[in-house]
Order: sequence, then structure tokens, then C-alpha cells
Amino acid sequence: MAIDPSFLDELNARSDIVDVVSRYVSLKKSGSNYFGLCPFHNEKSPSFSVSQDKQIFHCFGCGVGGGVLSFIMRAEGLEFYDAVSFLAKQYGMTVPENNYDNKTSKKRERLLELMKDTARFYYSELWKPENIKVQQYFVKRGLTRKTMNRFGLGFAPDSFFATMDAMTSKGYTKDELLTCGLISKSEKGNLFDKFRNRVMFPIFDLRGNVIAFGGRVMDDSKPKYLNSPETSIFHKSRNLFAIEKARKTSKDYFILAEGYMDVIALHQAGFDSAVASLGTALTEEQARLIARYTKNIIISYDADNAGQAASQRAIDILKKSGLNVRVLRIPNAKDPDQFIKEKGADAFRRLIEQSADDIAYKLNNIASKFDLEEDQDRISFLKEASYMLSFIDSDIEREIYTSRAANMAKISTQSMMIEVKKAVEKRKQALQKQKKREVRSAVDKAQPKDKTLKYENVNSARSEEEILLVIFGDNSLIGYLNGKISSEDFTSPILKAFFVHALELYKNGKNITIPAFEGYFDPEALSLLTNITSRPMPSMREKALDDSINNIKCRQMKNTDNYNDPLLAYAKARKENIFGGNRI
Ligand code: CTP
Ligand code: MN
Repeated sequence: MAIDPSFLDELNARSDIVDVVSRYVSLKKSGSNYFGLCPFHNEKSPSFSVSQDKQIFHCFGCGVGGGVLSFIMRAEGLEFYDAVSFLAKQYGMTVPENNYDNKTSKKRERLLELMKDTARFYYSELWKPENIKVQQYFVKRGLTRKTMNRFGLGFAPDSFFATMDAMTSKGYTKDELLTCGLISKSEKGNLFDKFRNRVMFPIFDLRGNVIAFGGRVMDDSKPKYLNSPETSIFHKSRNLFAIEKARKTSKDYFILAEGYMDVIALHQAGFDSAVASLGTALTEEQARLIARYTKNIIISYDADNAGQAASQRAIDILKKSGLNVRVLRIPNAKDPDQFIKEKGADAFRRLIEQSADDIAYKLNNIASKFDLEEDQDRISFLKEASYMLSFIDSDIEREIYTSRAANMAKISTQSMMIEVKKAVEKRKQALQKQKKREVRSAVDKAQPKDKTLKYENVNSARSEEEILLVIFGDNSLIGYLNGKISSEDFTSPILKAFFVHALELYKNGKNITIPAFEGYFDPEALSLLTNITSRPMPSMREKALDDSINNIKCRQMKNTDNYNDPLLAYAKARKENIFGGNRI
């Protein structure tokens, strides 16, 4: 770990997890813990708990957990080092510099500097007198100079080396340019600028760092856009275009558009909460990011078929994050950019007012597939609509839309109700079946949620978990284990690593707590540890330890028995198919 442990101790001591979490989740005290709605999954009743004593958070619903730093990592989408700086800043502390190893962070800072300098370079190119044609491109598209500056728009010159030369002369290495995806390597190994003769849209992270670029041609040539590749500073699926601006809006809704130009036109027209995904379909991470800033989202995709299909997918993803979703329809097959340019901001505001909620939108879409004057079509509509309506949880809501659907097809509300009820029953049965299947795979349930942490030997792992639970509850019992069991006896690599770290803490006279594991393990591993150590403590602790040790040793004997007999060992290995894997 890169950061001085004593600094982390100090930071953990100064920051109170209840304070920190309260900034994101409204918490209510109940008994000795605090409860609220989990910010990491969509839920209606609180299963997210925070313990002030233990300085941990833990969700019984989705299984995430950890200390204050894992919370910040998840909530702010930060890497460990950045989460430490983020939290330290709030408590007036500075992360110690003298560490040999905040190398990664230094490297990251340099890449961000490079991206900023590149954006400045593109910007200055745009405003060179000889590039008046490029400036005119933006003007023709209706952008004011203020908007261009606000979005940091620029121009990548028509050259294979201009960007590379400009940046290397500033002291950046070619490796750094490659890492940021600013230059590419040809098959022969020659380096050249990736973005050439394109207008450039910088992409910023939440804090306003330039992390990527989108570059558009100024004519009809292909590809229309080139985007920065995934890099260590740019993750397409985790960022949104213009999120750094939208997060500061005073509006109580966000607008989700498809394209960079749409977002820019929307902002210019006063809709300063518009964002877009980055050349890919909307992801759940992006939906969660939006849900951090608003409860209401209006999808405003292109009016063409592709845009409408994407809207359907986006609805479900956005709903999952607990957002209220509305869908805006632009008449005459246009995108928001074109519509605003032709009809103006007020006309767009009216479209917002007329936008349909998600269910109404879906109903309209289903209806548009059928001719509701035809009997066969009305039956098909009825079937498809009932299926869609059966997904609505709230009885009242379902009733309202059922009667609306009935009206659309001109059938009685009553018969539509019967159809929807049937669909709901069908779904319930399917759900029950699925639940049964889940119960049957009880072995899987004993596994960590994160598949990469999967136990090879579930039975032994159970006992290994129990040992961790007991020593977390009563640190002094580590002494009791002395000579009875060692980390070598642990079969699960991750549980073993937890145990080794616990021993290390104990040896150094420190408390064995979740916060003391932060930074040594990733958030998934910490969730697992939090889950294990949040279980009820057994009443007879020494006996629980003895039983666990016996069980682990007993499993070992069984295993060695097998492996003493080469034929048995071979048969067992065949059965487990471990020759195919990398164990032998
Ligand atoms: N996109 C992309 N690569 C392409 C085409 C599109 O990454 N070859 C992404 C861009 O993020 C773009 C978005 O998909 O902004 C929407 O595409 P489109 O509607 O074609 O782009 P607009 O931004 O509307 O561009 P313009 O109005 O300038 O044609
Ligand atoms: Mn467009």
C-alpha cells in the first residue's frame, strides 16, 4: 500500500463514518446502528446499516460493506489513493508526500496534465486565423463563442505529427501520449497523431479534469466520430459527457441525450442539466452516477428507430437506479440539436412538459406496432401490453395504466384487468420457481458474491470464516489460536490473506477492525469481510474456535487421504476437472 498506515489511522480516527455517509444517505438511528436506503442498489425499505462503534457500513440487501474509505471509493467512484485524498481534504489533512510510492498517483497527475495541455493545444489551433473555416463550422451549427469556450472545443490539425510534436516539446514522452491514446502506432511501428483534421470535444470527469476526447469530421466522411480509447484515466462506462456541468444545475431533472452536439445545443438553450453517454449504450454505472444528482431524468434521444430502441433499453437501466423516467418525443425525426436550432428553446420546453412517463411511453410504443381497428391486432396489443403492465409493482399504478391500455384498444377495462391479472400470476409463478432454484443451489449461497473470490472448499471455508468472525469480535482470542492453527491451514486464499493481516495487526498491537483492512484489500474483498464479521457472534467463543479448527483439520485429513492414494487422487482430480485448470 502506498500510503503511510499511521496517516490512515489518523484519518480513520478523525472522520466519522456516520457523518460521511449522512452526506449521501439520509440515516435514522435504530438501536445502536443507523439505517437508510442503500445508495448502491435500488431498494424501497432500508437494509443499509452503518455502525458507529465499528465504523463500518453494510448492506444486507446487496452485500456491500466496508469502512469509510471503501464507502467513498464506491460512492464517488474513486481509486483508493484518490478516496484517501478526497476524505483527507474534508478533514483538513494532507496526504503525506514523501512516500516512495505515490508513483501511480504522480503518473496519473502527469497524464491529466498532458490531457489538459492537449486540450489547450486544440483550443489554440481552433482560434488560429488560418483555421477560420473550422470556427465557421461551429458557427454554422449554431454555437456561440461563449458556448465553444465553455465546452473547451478545439481543432486537431490536419497533420500526422502536430499534436505529438507540440506535446513532446512540452516534455511529455511518447509513451505518455500512447497511454492517453493521443497517438497511435502503425503496423510498422511508426507513431502518428490519432486525431487529425477533426473538431475536438474534450470530455471531463466530475472534478473537471480532461480525461478523453471525441473528434468529429467536418464533412460526411467516416468514421464521423473518433473517441479516445479506454485508458487508465478514462472509463467510458463510468463517465458522462457534460456531467461536470450538469451536476451544478439548479433544475430538478437531468436530460439524457445521445450526442455531444445535442448536449451542447441543449446547454446553450438553457437546459444546463443535459448529459450524454460516450459513444456507447447507457450503462448501469452511468445511471447510478445520474441518480447521485437528481431523481428525475428525461430521455431525449434521436427520433429515429435506433434512438427509440435505445430509449427502451435506457428506461429499464435508469429505473433500476431508482430514477423517475420520462421520455421526450421529438416530432419529425429530429434530434434535440436540430429541433432547438429550428424551433427554439421554448418549443423544446414544451416537449419536456409533454413528455410521457416511462409506462405511457412503452404503451404508446406497443400500440404503434398494431392497427387497433383490427380485431387480431387488438388481441396482440392486449397480450403484449398485459405482459408489460405485469411488471408494475404498485397495484394502483398498474390499475391506472391498465384502464388506459383498455381505452386505447377500445375494450372494457374489466377484461383488460383479467388479462393483466393473469400475466401477474404467471410472473409470480416464474419468480417462485426461480427462488426455489436459488434455494436448491445452497452451496452457491455459501460462496462470496464476487465470483473471483469463489471458495474451492466451501466446507472448510465456512470454518475459516467463523474463525475470522470470532477474532474480529474478540481480538484477544488470537492468542487462543496459538499453536492450534496457522494461516497455512486456510484453504481459501482470500480468507487466508484476511487472517494473515489480522495476525499482523495483532502483532503490532493494533485493533483488528474493518477500517484497519482498508487499502490492503479491494472493495469487493472488504464487502466479503464485512459480511462475515457482521454475523452474530457465537455464544461460546472458544468452543466455536475449537469446532472450526477441528473441521478444517478434518477436511485436510480427508484430502490427504485421497491424495495418498494416487488412483483416488487421479479420479478426484478428473472429477473436479482440475487438469484443465491451472492447479496442477
Ligand atoms: N458516436 C461515436 N462514433 C460514431 C458515431 C457516433 O462515438 N462513429 C457517438 C458520439 O458520442 C455521438 C453520439 O454517438 O455524439 C451520437 O451520434 P450522432 O447522433 O451521429 O452524433 P451527433 O452528436 O448528433 O453529431 P452530429 O449532430 O454532429 O452529426
Ligand atoms: Mn446530431
